Amino acid sequence: MSEAGAQTSREGLRPPPLDQKAQDFLVRVFRKAQADLGIAGKRPNLVNIFDQASHLTKGFYRNEASRDYPFTQALLDKSNENILEWLTPIGERAGIRMPSTSFRNFVNPDEQIAMNGVACLFLSQVFEESPDLAAQYKDKEVKPKAYILHPGGQRRFVLAIADGERKMVVKPIRYPTEEAVAREASDAGIGPKIYHSSPDWLAEELVEGQSLEDLRGNSLLLGNVLGKAHISLTRQALGFEDDVLNHIRYDQKNRRVTLIDWENARQTVDPDEELKATKRSLKDLYSEDKDSLKTAMDSFKTTYGEIGEVAA
Ligand SMILES: Nc1ncnc2c1ncn2[C@@H]1O[C@H](COP(=O)(O)OP(=O)(O)OP(=O)(O)O)[C@@H](O)[C@H]1O
Ligand SMILES: [Mg+2]
Repeated sequence: MSEAGAQTSREGLRPPPLDQKAQDFLVRVFRKAQADLGIAGKRPNLVNIFDQASHLTKGFYRNEASRDYPFTQALLDKSNENILEWLTPIGERAGIRMPSTSFRNFVNPDEQIAMNGVACLFLSQVFEESPDLAAQYKDKEVKPKAYILHPGGQRRFVLAIADGERKMVVKPIRYPTEEAVAREASDAGIGPKIYHSSPDWLAEELVEGQSLEDLRGNSLLLGNVLGKAHISLTRQALGFEDDVLNHIRYDQKNRRVTLIDWENARQTVDPDEELKATKRSLKDLYSEDKDSLKTAMDSFKTTYGEIGEVAA
């Protein structure tokens, strides 16, 4: 089996089957990956297992993987949809619950999803675990388009499904705390509305608008939006603990401020720490532009102090 063998296209080309030794190697990697997740406090779900397995083959097993099994490394790094028929029995041997129905019964993936075997597996798992969601799409003649919205930082990918006008984000969960906090934020109207969820994934509203990073040129508005976001967090007693510049969105049309990505959020909060972190972000953003920094900071304080329960 060769590296070239892994360069499959979706046009019916199949990679060569894995020999027994390579299969055993992968089972070992998957088992170790699962054990590692337990130690790291992450959910032992498909995406996390594959992510950790990739790290293992790049690091710990690098020599073994590249010397004897270039194919297995390619399988984990660049697997595409075709590879799933090999992965499924291997995953089952490693004690991983693999989805039994294909996401293609429900949505039509774009090229990027089809070229990402883990995203394909993930979507299949989502439909298998949510009969409601599956029922919505099952009988549609024209299947809604599924696409990669964002390559994902920590999550590995963030997907979206466009069903006519309605756009929905589907994203994997890494830590056990996220589902509950995201639901709380959804109920309070400060996070994306959660349509469906499991401990392993969220299906949520695609929030329109601009990030604070996009609003950089309007420091007055940026400070104001940031102030409103902080009022929401303080009222809900939620700590965000994440990159506020990319995770706060402002929809100018509806004047709505939404915080996305509750992955690092906590249900208990130290408002002082949150404020300090926010001020640090502003300083980083405007490190070269003292005037804008002052405008943004004043605007933030005014908004937060005006309506806020705690003066900034
Ligand atoms: N509900 C949503 N509505 C609109 N855009 C979203 C939504 N969820 C995620 N995104 C987009 O996808 C990006 C990545 O999402 P998210 O932060 O949840 O994943 P991540 O892996 O933590 O990425 P990063 O490490 O870059 O923060 C967001 O910055 C945003 O642009
Ligand atoms: Mg994020």
